[in-house]
Amino acid sequence: MEKKSLHLEFMVYEDISSLDDADAWLLKEAREVTAHAYAPYSRFQVGAVIRLVNGEIIAGTNQENASFPIGLCAERVALASAASVYPNVDIDTIAVSYHNLNGDSSYPISPCGICRQSLLEYEGKQDTPIRIILGSLNGKVFVIERANDLLPLSFTGEMLNV
Ligand code: THU
Repeated sequence: MEKKSLHLEFMVYEDISSLDDADAWLLKEAREVTAHAYAPYSRFQVGAVIRLVNGEIIAGTNQENASFPIGLCAERVALASAASVYPNVDIDTIAVSYHNLNGDSSYPISPCGICRQSLLEYEGKQDTPIRIILGSLNGKVFVIERANDLLPLSFTGEMLNV
C-alpha cells in the first residue's frame, strides 16, 4: 500500500488593490456583471468574465430556472459564450465574483464541481493554462494558476480512448 497526497498552491491577495492592473480590471468587470444575473430563486448573483489571449472579453452570469436543475452557473455561461464566439482563441484568465443578496459577499467564491470539470475541458483543448481569479464584492482574492489544480484526479477525454 502507498499513501499519496495532492497539494494545492494558490495566491491569496488582501484585496483587489494588490492585483496587477489587468487582473484588477477583470475582477471589477466580474463584480459589475453580477447585476446581470438571473437568479430570482437563490438571490445569489454570480459574474464570470473571461479574457482571451487576443484581448477580447466575454462575460457570463448565472441563469436560473423554475425547474432548478436547468440553471446554469456564470462560469459555464461565460465558457460556452467564449467557445461559441471565438472557438479557436485560447482563454488566458477567468475572473469570478458574486453578490449574495441574502447575506455576506466578502469571501472568495468557490466554483462548483461541474464548473471545475468544464474549466478543465477547455483547458485541455488549449496548450496554455487557464488562470482563475476568485473574488467577491470586497475582501480577499484567490488566484489559481491552472484549472487542473482545482480538480485533482479528474475524469478527462483521454480516458474514453476515442
Ligand atoms: N453559482 C454560480 O454561478 N457559480 C458558482 O461558482 C457557484 C454557484 C450559481 C448557481 C446558482 O444559480 C446560484 O449560484 C446558487 O447556487
